Amino acid sequence: MIAEAEEELLTINDMLRWALSRFYEAELYFGHGTDNAWDEAVALVLQSLHLPPDVDQRVLSARLTQTERKQILKLVKQRVRSRVPLPYLTHVAWFCGLPFYVDERVLIPRSPMAELIEQHFKPWFSEEGPQQVLDLCTGGGCIAIAIAHYLPDAEVTASDLSKEALAVATMNAEQHQVAVEFIKSDLFDAIPEQQFDLIISNPPYVNLDEMKTLPKEYHHEPTMALKAEDDGLAIVDNILQVAPNYLTDDGYLIVEVGNSDETLVERYPDVPFVWLDFERGGSGVFLLSAQDLKQYFVK
Ligand SMILES: C[S@@+](CC[C@H](N)C(=O)[O-])C[C@H]1O[C@@H](n2cnc3c(N)ncnc32)[C@H](O)[C@@H]1O
Repeated sequence: MIAEAEEELLTINDMLRWALSRFYEAELYFGHGTDNAWDEAVALVLQSLHLPPDVDQRVLSARLTQTERKQILKLVKQRVRSRVPLPYLTHVAWFCGLPFYVDERVLIPRSPMAELIEQHFKPWFSEEGPQQVLDLCTGGGCIAIAIAHYLPDAEVTASDLSKEALAVATMNAEQHQVAVEFIKSDLFDAIPEQQFDLIISNPPYVNLDEMKTLPKEYHHEPTMALKAEDDGLAIVDNILQVAPNYLTDDGYLIVEVGNSDETLVERYPDVPFVWLDFERGGSGVFLLSAQDLKQYFVK
């Protein structure tokens, strides 16, 4: 089938249609940058050709070279056979309108918190946004780097337990030419005593039962980026207990907890979590003020 495709598919449009058919045929799962087969086909073909996502539609009828055809067919084959998420094959993931290098050392960026960054965290902060920011569990650095990009006056610190992830994050910061201080730390353990206006985190929060039901694509991501003991709340709990010591009096904590939101509310029914809404979709992100954290979590 591949040999036939290589010979008969001539244009970008031909490739898009063929990739789409293969994706439907294989019943792939989409959740790493795209959420449907068409967007995944577009991402695969355009990234393979080094074309931007908003490329002029007129190029779609342009013919491809044999080398380009081979490369696209190879990627489609890999995506279908191995179920590796596309960004690990092309090594590009988009977050906050910025491209990030990714490989299997880091989670593929997809947090809805991107919208908060693009909006400078309004209405919780003024237009200038927070000045001292800590991104806990930074992975490949997407949140920290996007904050440094959108809020150039902010001083951004970012940490992760995985030195492999931090190597990717450092590379991404260099590529985007932003200054982020990266620290290898088990949550707050190695963070110097300092007060931040904003602590933001997308920590691991998938409970053990949910881990077993995840589509194959997720099992290519680092387990330590997803799995959390204690009903998915082991890491989140630690953040809630310790964050108050690291926040200014008028600071905020923002944490993504995904599907573990109900468990969190059941565990802390009195805590006034503010659950944030997102225009582009996504949920399971809460905000808490330093004052509320101190009231409910400092004994
Ligand atoms: C869900 S990923 C988030 C990555 C990135 N912030 C993002 O939004 O794409 C969680 C990250 O937490 C890190 N991590 C897991 N346990 C940790 C711990 N105890 N202390 C610090 N980081 C930890 C993992 O290595 C992983 O990079």
